[in-house]
Amino acid sequence: MAARRPIIIDTDPGIDDALAIFLACASPELEIRAVTTVAGNVGINRTTRNASALVALAGKSQIPVFRGAEKPLAGTWSTIEDIHGQNGIGDATIPDGPNGSRGSAVEALIEILSAAQPNSQTVVLLGPQTNLALALEQQPDIVRGIKEIVLMAGSLGPEGGNSSRYAEFNVHVDPKAAHKVLDCGRPMFWAPLEVARQASVDQMWIDLLRATDRPCCNAGADMLEFYMKSFKKPAAALYDPLAVMWLIAPNLFDVTATTLEIETADAERAGQTRFKLGEGDGNIRVAVSCDADRVRTLLLERLAQL
Ligand code: BDR
Ligand code: CA
Repeated sequence: MAARRPIIIDTDPGIDDALAIFLACASPELEIRAVTTVAGNVGINRTTRNASALVALAGKSQIPVFRGAEKPLAGTWSTIEDIHGQNGIGDATIPDGPNGSRGSAVEALIEILSAAQPNSQTVVLLGPQTNLALALEQQPDIVRGIKEIVLMAGSLGPEGGNSSRYAEFNVHVDPKAAHKVLDCGRPMFWAPLEVARQASVDQMWIDLLRATDRPCCNAGADMLEFYMKSFKKPAAALYDPLAVMWLIAPNLFDVTATTLEIETADAERAGQTRFKLGEGDGNIRVAVSCDADRVRTLLLERLAQL
């Protein structure tokens, strides 16, 4: 088997973050070096508690969890408990992880990326991009350790936002951080809102997940049912799992090179992602569609392993 790809997951769990963490834990192609947390869907105490509990439920309590930024680089944001539940994971009850946080996320990013071979680490960003932006600001050299940045964020349509008319949540919460991360110049893969929505799951899929009767599947099913109710829709979009899916099954995506601008100046459009599809040198790539049936099937197969 090929060497496992070393990744750091930066996340704000979050129902869909939880599914993404489970998917990564269930994927032998990946070596999760650390999970770093950020405030976003809910506050930092919750996202950190959840990250530690989720890796433990997946049988991977040896993965270190590091507590990150409690607010964006500038301004304020609103948590979205109405969508993710008071506890951030759809009010599902799972036991606390045995380890909690091992320290600062920004320091962990700096330490891991500085010590790594050049061009070797994949950073997976599933929430506001504050931690990596802070790490890059404090220690610009760490960029050398990064092979690729893979993120669920942004929207293809200029007015296709979910957090504002113009902006997707992760970019909207901290546009300055997203801009800083984009500016670092490392190869990027973006999984945007529209593609994540293609890979939605419905009650029938959730029933199949629950039928496996595995602890992570039962918790995942509870969370997804909560998610569907929050959105008042008969299906729940698989936002963050798509970024992890790209790492294990890139053949399930249609991808194009793109250029990208992120709005940071105009308050109304803050966080808007302006992709010019088909342009650029391929350093930035974005998914434009996915094979939704195969994404759902592979996700189910993997989660059933936990
Ligand atoms: C993104 O926003 C968050 O609510 C989700 O966890 C996901 O990362 C989707 O816009
Ligand atoms: Ca998230």
